[in-house]
Amino acid sequence: MRQAGRSLPEYRAIRGTGSIVEAIRNPDLATEITLQPVRRYGTDAAILYSDIVTPIEAIGFGVDVVPGVGPVIRQPFESAADLDRIRPLDAEADTPYVLQTVRNLVAELGDVPLIGFAGAPFTVASYLVEGGPSRTYEKTKRLMYADTELWFSLLDRLADLALASLQSQVANGASAIQLFDSWAGALSPSDYHRYVMPASQKVLQGIAPTGVPRIHFGVSTGELLPLMHRAGADVVGVDWRVDLDDARTRLGDDVALQGNLDPVAVLAGPDVAIERARDVLRRAGGHRGHIFNLGHGVMPDTDPDVLKRVVDLVHAEGKVR
Ligand code: CP3
Repeated sequence: MRQAGRSLPEYRAIRGTGSIVEAIRNPDLATEITLQPVRRYGTDAAILYSDIVTPIEAIGFGVDVVPGVGPVIRQPFESAADLDRIRPLDAEADTPYVLQTVRNLVAELGDVPLIGFAGAPFTVASYLVEGGPSRTYEKTKRLMYADTELWFSLLDRLADLALASLQSQVANGASAIQLFDSWAGALSPSDYHRYVMPASQKVLQGIAPTGVPRIHFGVSTGELLPLMHRAGADVVGVDWRVDLDDARTRLGDDVALQGNLDPVAVLAGPDVAIERARDVLRRAGGHRGHIFNLGHGVMPDTDPDVLKRVVDLVHAEGKVR
């Protein structure tokens, strides 16, 4: 999840006012930003400071990440002619700064694993087609329903892009990967299965030979959880809209869950945050396959001291049965 950035004073102090794309292109800065939350909170893993649009930006599609808005596409994807604008990613040549950051981090982190990531084909497609964030995904879904052949061509190219990026991150030392399909919850299970799952499967199954754990996450995906697991995930991320014990019932015992404290609970003060974090642990029931996390990114106004107390609580009380 996007997290460090929006709440830590030390992040705001070094992030600067330019585009996040510039910060990502600077390995020393991106390394330091990745380390900040690990240092402050003592988390058990680090998430690479990059963005889901990094590969598509790197091949020249024309993306800005506007503060407070998110990715904005200069010339959105409209027709078959735009497919040529999505060439394969040569990760070493196109994103050397990402790989340098990964190598820096692996050297600095010691025993703390680094999680690499990519945007899933549907979620990246939604930005390319809508031109920016959307509430309804109407252009994306219209393309999907009305020109299914072009839709599958688009998703296939985005799957190749995500896979190449993930493979390069793992080759340079990332110990786990996360595929973010943040906005897949806009689809019904049958539409997800038909129009999206094959491309995500291509990414997750493509990375399987590396042997690293694969985390698959989206928001409002309660109805999609079993399919997101079947796409090829070892860990399924759950947002706060499904209680974790219910997610366990939906998914069975042979998968790890990640989640799912409501980020707003952390905003509501230490007592609420602690009580809610305990509830997540209780619902996780001591199952060994649980990565404690928020259900989505940290809200910008979060008090870092409250978050620190949540991490400490999980370390003290999050026991495996
Ligand atoms: O937070 C971290 O340090 C982890 C690195 C990270 C970022 N983006 C940096 C970032 C990760 C894992 C992402 C993934 C990402 N980016 C996702 C998938 C996960 C999720 O949260 O759902 C998505 C959908 C995006 C696209 C994106 N980038 C959005 C919607 C925004 C928010 C715009 C805003 O300002 O609210 C961004 C910008 C962004 N990417 C920030 C960070 C830390 C926000 C702060 C900044 O611009 O400095």
